[in-house]
Amino acid sequence: MEKAPLPRPLPHLETLLGPDARDFSSQNWPNEPRLFKAEPKRMDWLLDAIPRDLSQLSRYTRLRLRAWWINQNGDFQQTQLTQENLQHRRPEATVVVDRLEEAFPHVGRFLRSLGSELAIPLKAATASFYVSNKNQSTRVHYDQQEVFLHQVEGEKTWHYSKCEEAVFPDRPNFGPSSASRDGGITLPTDLSDFETVTLLPGDILFLPRGWWHQSLALSDSYSLTWTLWCMNKAEQLLEQLYPVLREEASARMIASPANDINWDEMKEILRYGLAGLPHSD
Ligand SMILES: [Fe+2]
Repeated sequence: MEKAPLPRPLPHLETLLGPDARDFSSQNWPNEPRLFKAEPKRMDWLLDAIPRDLSQLSRYTRLRLRAWWINQNGDFQQTQLTQENLQHRRPEATVVVDRLEEAFPHVGRFLRSLGSELAIPLKAATASFYVSNKNQSTRVHYDQQEVFLHQVEGEKTWHYSKCEEAVFPDRPNFGPSSASRDGGITLPTDLSDFETVTLLPGDILFLPRGWWHQSLALSDSYSLTWTLWCMNKAEQLLEQLYPVLREEASARMIASPANDINWDEMKEILRYGLAGLPHSD
């Protein structure tokens, strides 16, 4: 009798998402938001080493952490987490501290292990934390990556809805390369039809790319965003294509100047590459 394959171990995903991690993983990353209720203290071993006091955090590491001040009206300022910069932020700004994995190696190790458990190939995985005071909100926007919004302390309400205009976006709607470059997609002004969920400590909301979302802190709030930069199919194709192309001398030639591409030559190289892919005819 044939033995059933052993289930793939997912210890880090289960630590993050709780008992529903296995079911989530088996659904191959549905393009739907999903709420995970899990034991609040399960991540303490990882999070307790990260100072939650911003002043303390700014002194913690010689590596200057990148930070953002996000104002109530959606304006944002990219800066570095220093004592001086902290004093000059607007009191109502939500503070985002980026790339915790660069300052905290154990966070980096957790993210790498998480990535190796996931079936979807990742370009990168990062962790940021968000500190907001009661009643602070963020501007409605969508992102181009998958995120786990992890409430650590306090309560936060999230409103979310699918953006029908931006199907699987690969550019952000928020930040330096944002909305105006994204085909003029207008921001929703009426969120009354949006789904609403309030995250309590320990809860995680999974949001896929291309879903409008806006948050409101119901109390002073400390949360983490675990960001997974999942590859899209174009990126996956290019990644598979390159090792095939590098076997062909004409593909290894120095690139043409930008406006002087010989497309007949390029198509020939592409034909070679496509023919070398597994299972291609
Ligand atoms: Fe976002």
